[in-house]
Amino acid sequence: MSSVGRVLVIIPTYNEAENLPVIVGRVRASVPDADILVADDNSPDGTGRLADEMAASDAHVHVLHRPGKEGLGRAYLAGFAWGLDRDYDVLVEMDADGSHRPEELPRLLDALEHADLVLGSRWVPGGAVVNWPRSREVLSRGGSLYTRLALGIRTRDATGGYRAFRAQTLRDLDLDSVQSNGYCFQVDMLWRAVQRGKVIREVPITFVEREAGTSKMSNRIVVEALTKVGQWGAQERWRQVSGRPRRR
Ligand code: GDD
Ligand code: MN
Repeated sequence: MSSVGRVLVIIPTYNEAENLPVIVGRVRASVPDADILVADDNSPDGTGRLADEMAASDAHVHVLHRPGKEGLGRAYLAGFAWGLDRDYDVLVEMDADGSHRPEELPRLLDALEHADLVLGSRWVPGGAVVNWPRSREVLSRGGSLYTRLALGIRTRDATGGYRAFRAQTLRDLDLDSVQSNGYCFQVDMLWRAVQRGKVIREVPITFVEREAGTSKMSNRIVVEALTKVGQWGAQERWRQVSGRPRRR
């Protein structure tokens, strides 16, 4: 057990059969006490079956089978509900493709001792990206800048998906009302935490682009994020000029 309690690492998957055994092995080696929940959206490539096989031979590995591809946000919400039901103290988000290095997880968990939410961050000093196409870097940096400007927050990496939440933080975020499906979900969770006055820390990470399989990023995901973040920003401005208190 880590100093922050029982840890559940949630790994959402859609067609990650090549990557899953590697990432699960690395998490098991890096944080041996943590449990893993694979949240699979009925991947056509058999990722779900593979996860079942790993779960059968390792009591630390669990699988949540979802009926079909509903987006990263929906998979995480289902994973959070699973973990909160089972009284984990810390819930971690991690991609399956190796971009979020499990070897860095102990540092995120250490930082959580003094925070409600820890963000793995590519865009703080010490953070880095490896093998990312220039276009993705521009999109990610631009997305975080847009988010900072729209919402008036200081977070450098607002869209990243390597995070550690205290269970109580998640319980306070009113998860039933989350509407975001795609990667905009990450901004949604961050914004909820900011609005509720949570202590948020960014920890530098090295994001390594996947070597196997393909990204699920799409134009639809970008448009959802631009639209929603713009709306949240406008609502926040309206709240400020109309002098209403923050809803907690
Ligand atoms: N269950 C499920 N359902 N999993 C999904 C879905 C889905 O609809 N879409 C994506 N995933 C899983 C992938 O299988 C992978 O494990 C993880 O979510 C991240 O997907 P990628 O497709 O590899 O994301 P990326 O590398 O393009 O994007 C990364 O950067 C984004 C922008 O910073 C991720 O870290 C995102 O979380 C991040 O928002
Ligand atoms: Mn990826």
